[in-house]
Amino acid sequence: MNILVIGPGAIGSLWAIKLQQSGHQVAVFGRHTAPHYQCQLGESIYTFANHQVDDIRHADLILVTVKAWQVASALERLTPQINPDTIIMLMHNGMGSLDTIGALLQTNPVLLATTTHGAFKPAPSQLIHTGQGETLIGAANAQGGRCQFLRDVFDHALPTVHWHPQIEHALWHKLAVNCVINPLTAIRQCPNGTLAHPEYQARITRLIAEVSAVMTAEKIPFQLAQLTAHIYQVIAATSENLSSMHQDVSHRRKTEIDFITGYLIRRAKKHDIAVPENEALYQHIKTLEQSWESLI
Ligand SMILES: NC(=O)c1ccc[n+]([C@@H]2O[C@H](COP(=O)([O-])OP(=O)(O)OC[C@H]3O[C@@H](n4cnc5c(N)ncnc54)[C@H](OP(=O)(O)O)[C@@H]3O)[C@@H](O)[C@H]2O)c1
Repeated sequence: MNILVIGPGAIGSLWAIKLQQSGHQVAVFGRHTAPHYQCQLGESIYTFANHQVDDIRHADLILVTVKAWQVASALERLTPQINPDTIIMLMHNGMGSLDTIGALLQTNPVLLATTTHGAFKPAPSQLIHTGQGETLIGAANAQGGRCQFLRDVFDHALPTVHWHPQIEHALWHKLAVNCVINPLTAIRQCPNGTLAHPEYQARITRLIAEVSAVMTAEKIPFQLAQLTAHIYQVIAATSENLSSMHQDVSHRRKTEIDFITGYLIRRAKKHDIAVPENEALYQHIKTLEQSWESLI
């Protein structure tokens, strides 16, 4: 396949390399305009064409791996070049980016993906695959539903990949985990495992209760006890890890809060559900972000 990866950061470079290794013609579209992008993984250096308009036009699949808040701006100026048949797959944390691009891609098959692989770029052209994980993909529209073959394509490149018939359900479960772990660890600047301490329990219970109320209103199937157990399992399994929002805050980068807690709050408002605990965390992160902006 002709595959274009928009946003060759950590996760985008990982997939670009793995898809190229498995025999596809892969190009990237980064923020920088150099005609080639090189990235080292292990001992090998991989080279991709970069920023070529022809690669947009000829793409069978465009994999968008920018952060949730970058999706609209990354796609906006490229859409006139995108073929109406090209499959678009958005792979990022959080939910709601589709709402920001809805009008841009009326005819294209659109897929959503979420991955638990870990990737890190210690330098602009170096990549470390920090952790094996699994990837879920699923359809965001009817045309996307006809693209199940991509499970095999992606699984062959970097297993394990599952096709999820209701990807929105899986994304909501992930959102619930992220609403608890991301803002709390970012504000406290602690590793995920700290949240297992008893002092956090009451707050986490209130956060989960609010998320559950919104998930119920959204008709997302779940059981409270299982969701709670799953969140604590993730806290335990990733106890040494620093969440992405923790890292964004410690580097004074814009976070994905608008597409995690912010998305929950937007959906809660729609259903007239109060989510004060989540709103307090949202405001705290926004205040931190604004304090850096005012320093620039
Ligand atoms: N890294 C992980 O281990 C991991 C794991 C699971 C999920 N995720 C999720 O995957 C998403 C991407 O994360 P990441 O860690 O890969 O972030 P990242 O390294 O910052 O990658 C994003 C890339 O997109 C580029 N970009 C931004 N705006 C662009 C535009 N308009 N056009 C083209 N390229 C643009 C960025 O360029 P600049 O560098 O120049 O800004 C950067 O190279 C996030 O939602 C994250 O939460 C990450």
